[in-house]
Amino acid sequence: MARRRTTSRSVDHLLTDFGSRLPRKDAEPPEPPADKPFPRVIRHRGVRRAGHGWAPTLPPLAGYQTTSEQAPVMWPLIAGDGLPPTGAPMGFNVLSGGSFYCDPMGWINDDTIPVTNPNVFIFGKPGRGKSALVKAFMLRMIRFGYRSLVLGDVKDEYEDISRALRVEPYRIGPGLPGRINPLDAGPLAMDWERQDRTETARRAAVIFNRWLALIRGLVGSQQVPFTPTEARVINHVLRDLIGWTNGQTRLTPVTIPMVWKSLDDPSEDLVAACRYESQQDFYDSTRPLRDALGSLCEGELEGLFDAPSTFEPNWRAPIQTLSLNALHSAGNEAAVGIALMCLNSWGQGIREMAEVGDRRIVLRDEAWMQTRLGVEAVKTLDSNLRLSRNDGDIQLVTYHKPSDPLSAGDQGSQAAQIAKDLLHLADVRILMGQDEEVGTELGHLLGLTRMQQDLVTGWAMQDKGRALWMVGDQRFKVQTVLTPVERRLTYTNDAVA
Ligand SMILES: Nc1ncnc2c1ncn2[C@@H]1O[C@H](COP(=O)(O)OP(=O)(O)O)[C@@H](O)[C@H]1O
Ligand SMILES: [Mg+2]
Repeated sequence: MARRRTTSRSVDHLLTDFGSRLPRKDAEPPEPPADKPFPRVIRHRGVRRAGHGWAPTLPPLAGYQTTSEQAPVMWPLIAGDGLPPTGAPMGFNVLSGGSFYCDPMGWINDDTIPVTNPNVFIFGKPGRGKSALVKAFMLRMIRFGYRSLVLGDVKDEYEDISRALRVEPYRIGPGLPGRINPLDAGPLAMDWERQDRTETARRAAVIFNRWLALIRGLVGSQQVPFTPTEARVINHVLRDLIGWTNGQTRLTPVTIPMVWKSLDDPSEDLVAACRYESQQDFYDSTRPLRDALGSLCEGELEGLFDAPSTFEPNWRAPIQTLSLNALHSAGNEAAVGIALMCLNSWGQGIREMAEVGDRRIVLRDEAWMQTRLGVEAVKTLDSNLRLSRNDGDIQLVTYHKPSDPLSAGDQGSQAAQIAKDLLHLADVRILMGQDEEVGTELGHLLGLTRMQQDLVTGWAMQDKGRALWMVGDQRFKVQTVLTPVERRLTYTNDAVA
């Protein structure tokens, strides 16, 4: 005889009908047995019990067969192929859930990734995590043999990571003994006497180009025109001072005060060679040039860039940082911008030759302080990056917003074009959170779609370390993850610029 199951109502049910509940002790949910974390298998129709979502019939599902090549057309918004897991693990790709790795050199060597140079530009509103990303990248690349060079730590932000790596930051600033000579000939001047004529000519061209780019930037950023006439005078002076004109076998060190002095007291040869009628004519024509150079030897920048370099980088140390905090604390942003320009140019020179296998991350943090000095300052940075060796060095540049170079007073089409060119010098661009108004500029300058713009102004603003990574023409939505130690080392308590 089959037993009939009777269902009876409990007291609970009865009381619920009258709108009240019995008080009861909270029971812990039972722990699943260790060997069976999912003890019950739920069938695809659900659980056949009241209130458990049972479906007697399933909705009809259409089945399609496509090749993997056709599939992206149906789901165009799903992330494409990921990047290979090489280089520094930075966090995760939010769309695929997979780990995301950053390896600019590896990307160049991989033909499937459209990256042809290892330059990385990082944009983001202050406090979004640009510097933290850079620091995490530096630390994580150490195990691949990369060392770092910080060209101008404006707010002593790299002090902690430097100390953690047991390296003392090198300080430059008013009243401090450290000097950097932006007209350092650099390693190219080594063993000069042993090089043949073609090699010295090649090296001299590199050195003179760098120096001229720097002087053009320094003079131009003080609103003094730097025309081919000025360039000709400066070229002559530099060639005379270093000993190139008279074919010296050892090069003489040159500093900015020496250039200034040569203009202040021009030799007859110089006056004649630059086709001035008289010494007075020379004085009259070069006055703005002399004054612009003079301001580097006097005033706030006095004693920083006007003598032979006292800093000899230790290329074996895991990090070398040049701190400009003392100058930044003095509050003159233009002076910091000029100092960055000097350091950037010096940094290009000092890396012109490196030992085989010397891989380095060269950082130009807060580059906007330099580029907003004007079009000439942008051009100098552009030439520093363009002419930097990119067989082993990864150049990182951080900016607030892409249009920083455009805020350089001259909003004309020339400035815009130069800024655009600068941005296109990097094949890898990391866009962290930005305000709405910057989104449009970003879209315009970098060719972002509406959806990508929204990512930057929406999603990326909601948490630190979120960014749209543009690797060649591929886009990735990435969250950088910091370890607890990195969080401590990257802590900056100011979210202001
Ligand atoms: N991915 C991240 N996860 C957690 N905290 C972060 C992350 N990125 C940055 N931070 C924190 O946010 C703060 C500001 O970051 P910072 O790198 O100084 O910003 P920025 O250089 O863009 O001004 C720091 O205290 C840093 O530790
Ligand atoms: Mg920063």
